[in-house]
Amino acid sequence: MLAEAARDYRIISVRPEPSGFGAEITGVDLARPLAPEALAEVKAAWARHAVVAFPDQPLTLDELEAFTQQIGPFGEDPFIKPMPGHPNVLELRREPDEKATNFGAGWHSDWSFQPEPPAATILRSEVVPPVGGDTLFCDAARAWEALSPTMQRMLEGLRAVHSATRAYGTRGVFARETEKRTMEIIVSPDADRSLTHPLVRTHPVTGRRALYVSPVYTTGVEGLTVEESQALLGFLFKHMTQDAFVYRHRWRAGMVLMWDNRCTAHFAEGGYDGHLRVMHRTTVAGERPV
Ligand code: SIN
Repeated sequence: MLAEAARDYRIISVRPEPSGFGAEITGVDLARPLAPEALAEVKAAWARHAVVAFPDQPLTLDELEAFTQQIGPFGEDPFIKPMPGHPNVLELRREPDEKATNFGAGWHSDWSFQPEPPAATILRSEVVPPVGGDTLFCDAARAWEALSPTMQRMLEGLRAVHSATRAYGTRGVFARETEKRTMEIIVSPDADRSLTHPLVRTHPVTGRRALYVSPVYTTGVEGLTVEESQALLGFLFKHMTQDAFVYRHRWRAGMVLMWDNRCTAHFAEGGYDGHLRVMHRTTVAGERPV
């Protein structure tokens, strides 16, 4: 990792990944309200690196909620039963003997089927398995920037169709699941609805443009045939998730990770059968993609 220029931050220390995508932040205690300057620095580092990890922050659920609200108001989390007494916290839990595929095992940007999908997701690790369980992130802004000008011109102005149907719909993966799952998933006809967002969106803070599609939630491209959509999206999914654009996050217990859903997609890796994994997750409301 490179050391970020010290002059950029007065309070926090930031160690970016060599690519600049992903960074570790130390020098703050997330269990307590951040001073305005510290919060501004955290937000600046997050805008710059898109995925930021805070090691050694074993927050209680109340502290996780309070930190989330310093970033922004809670987002709306559909289709998963929240924690008792904590309507804005999801527990991502997989027991050692669980056979169902781990939650989040497909590239996606959180709740992109909503009219105003969450800007941020914040995940705090409680129990980390000794093997597996990494979370992969792809840099959808760099993926966009790496496309040829001709391809960019072709994509500009297109709208992609997003839906939760493949996951939470009445004929989706969870509806067809036969293995027992600890997390309480709510399959619903509401998930079968769809809407469109720009295929390329502009980040409201950085002004950078990013591909805004994912294999889990993007079901087509407006105005294209099914075959044309599949070919185009297949190319884009492969392009954006190539190793050159991916940051692999390796968890330690008591870590807080915050990612920007507006310019990234993520994938929760399995590989920890026989071990418990427990995470707590909140989202921060976002804006209509433009
Ligand atoms: C998710 O939010 O998609 C799951 C991430 C993880 O469990 O690593």
